[in-house]
Amino acid sequence: MSASNQPASSVASVYNYGSINIDHVYRVPHLVRPGETLSSTDYQIVLGGKGANQTIALARAGGRVAHWGQLGRADEWALETLRDAGADIDDVAVLEGSSGHTVIQVDDEGENAIVLFGGTNQSFTPERLDELLTGADSGGWLLLQNECNAVEAVIQKALARGLKVAFNPAPMTPAIRKLPLTELSLLFVNRGEAAALVDIDEQSNADTLIKALQTALPGVDIVLTLGAEGAWRIDGEHNEPLYQPARPVQAVDTTGAGDTFIGYYMAALQADHDANTCLARATAAAALAVQHPGAATGIPTVEEVEAFLQIADQSE
Ligand code: RIB
Repeated sequence: MSASNQPASSVASVYNYGSINIDHVYRVPHLVRPGETLSSTDYQIVLGGKGANQTIALARAGGRVAHWGQLGRADEWALETLRDAGADIDDVAVLEGSSGHTVIQVDDEGENAIVLFGGTNQSFTPERLDELLTGADSGGWLLLQNECNAVEAVIQKALARGLKVAFNPAPMTPAIRKLPLTELSLLFVNRGEAAALVDIDEQSNADTLIKALQTALPGVDIVLTLGAEGAWRIDGEHNEPLYQPARPVQAVDTTGAGDTFIGYYMAALQADHDANTCLARATAAAALAVQHPGAATGIPTVEEVEAFLQIADQSE
């Protein structure tokens, strides 16, 4: 680990097999409608990608994380944000192709719509995966999302090596349901992902979603995030689910809020905090993130999260 804010090496490493995107973010009065031409009021090019965002959040939370990624040479500048956050980027390969990138609209309510091009996130070779996995500490965690290729192969290789696997099936695709999900140690899902995974109505209440997830994935710890309705941690041992209400804030941009939650949750888990603390820290971090524009740019520091939690605790 090259970064100065990494904790002692006795903690389990987290290897994040994650996308790196260049986000082209357009501020718009409303999300564009079919056939409409809409002027944007602001335009920014920033680092994003569910993978990179989660790595940055984990590192800013004080966690120990190595990012396994790929990006195009023209976008090497984006690595600075990962490095500055304190992530280990020794295993980020710089390639000749186009980086993953997105076109993101953010409206006046802070809601977004995203078009994604996979680029170099989709060109991991079997040889590169073997190399990454062979170098991994078997007592560690593999964290991954669904923006890189070979998701199933990476999960299988990580399991075979003895790593625990934490998976965030975003963006959700039909192929996800065929993955060895019952072998996961931890699954992060939002409402839409949960409903698609267990094939029930997205408008189902939390109780119905939780029961369906427990039935489909026995033994897997699951974190279900429901935005303004809070977050649940469902125990693979069938203990009573834990609930964390959302922190009411004025959202400016929700892009990357889920990634911030996951990074902070993983860092708290890595630091051996109990599940209630993991949920509380992750929820606070996400609440801060939505108050700032941009995905990676909106991810708070650990000091900001701790100050926010202190103020929130005092006012309860
Ligand atoms: O979760 C937010 C991220 O999704 C953005 O940064 C964008 O790159 C897309 O991958």
